[in-house]
Amino acid sequence: MSYVNYLEAHAGGTELPSPLVLPDGKRISSAAMWESRRRELRQTFADFMFGEIPPPPQKITLELRRERTDALDGTAIRREIRIHLENDGKRFFFDMLWYIPKNLSAPCPAIVGLNFPGNPATTDDPDVFENDPAKLKEHALERGVQRERWCFKEMIARGFSMATAARDDLFFDGRDGRRESVYSLFHSPEELTEENRSLTAISAWAWGCIRLREILAADPLIDEKRIWVHGHSRLGKTALWASANDEKFAGCVSNDSGCCGAAPSRRNFGETLHVITHAFPWWFQKKLDLYAEKPAELPFDQNALLALTAPRPLLVASATEDLWADPYGEFLSTAAADDVWKLYGLGFNGTPEFPLPETPAFGKALGYYLRTGKHAVTATDWKMVTEFIKANS
Ligand code: GCU
Repeated sequence: MSYVNYLEAHAGGTELPSPLVLPDGKRISSAAMWESRRRELRQTFADFMFGEIPPPPQKITLELRRERTDALDGTAIRREIRIHLENDGKRFFFDMLWYIPKNLSAPCPAIVGLNFPGNPATTDDPDVFENDPAKLKEHALERGVQRERWCFKEMIARGFSMATAARDDLFFDGRDGRRESVYSLFHSPEELTEENRSLTAISAWAWGCIRLREILAADPLIDEKRIWVHGHSRLGKTALWASANDEKFAGCVSNDSGCCGAAPSRRNFGETLHVITHAFPWWFQKKLDLYAEKPAELPFDQNALLALTAPRPLLVASATEDLWADPYGEFLSTAAADDVWKLYGLGFNGTPEFPLPETPAFGKALGYYLRTGKHAVTATDWKMVTEFIKANS
């Protein structure tokens, strides 16, 4: 299949395998049984799709390059931190931009996630340090152009701390990105070839999200039990994988994560496994290529990736015009992950219906909503995220 289908009548794949059904056909019926099934499924996702997330390095040193106490019109503390990492004598660094609401009366919740074009593009603040030019290469955009993707000021006003770092700092998003990636802390240069597909970009990025969480968790201004991971698109796939691997994330938000994120691989709608494995081989294990033409033979579908966050809260967000990411498919996966939350007495009340735009379908700890518009993160998305997090904290 090399054409792209946008007709629901030709999409198929509305029946997804239940994460609760074991390979021998037996069905999981308790939260205790799910715990071991969960470990098995996580391993299967590592083997077939994302590879393993590298371990923490032996040493992390935080260099506070600058702190301002009057950021975002005086509402926030802003910290710009260079994170230096060392492992077996090898060194690596990446840059974090971190906002914290001022005058807190108690530790606050936080959201961490990676950005596409570098830290200065995410904020209205005109003086944020550029990301290291050697790492950011061609992606750097103008200052502030993606401010709406972060809405720092609005989120600070709602009481959230927010922290981000650029994906390219961790793994340059291209075929030869492996060479100068975080994997260089753990592997010799000879191992960091284009062919070494077990070292994936998505696991490198997820590793970065986990480091951000740890740094925030160690700060008394932050409530370590309420740190969420958020991601848009390829970084939404990343957020889901980070949350699956690090149960210390309080919850996860997948925004327009699409193929290999929240959208089912078994559906032929928008981006397919065929397309994604050809276009972005460095994101995935080589094994995934074997299923590019036969996704129905994968031993899971993406509802199982969603379920790896259970029973912690998960919000799946889609956009009406983002057909490439298969909004209806993202809803179907969410609904087909609900059984796992139900084991914990959570999830939707009954069977959810595909909601109208701007009408959230929020269950207990599991939610879906559809925004009118394009593939993006908007102020509306952040309002929904806030509502969902507040209802589930
Ligand atoms: C491409 C890719 C998607 C990805 C998106 C993004 O469109 O095909 O899988 O989610 O880029 O990250 O913006």
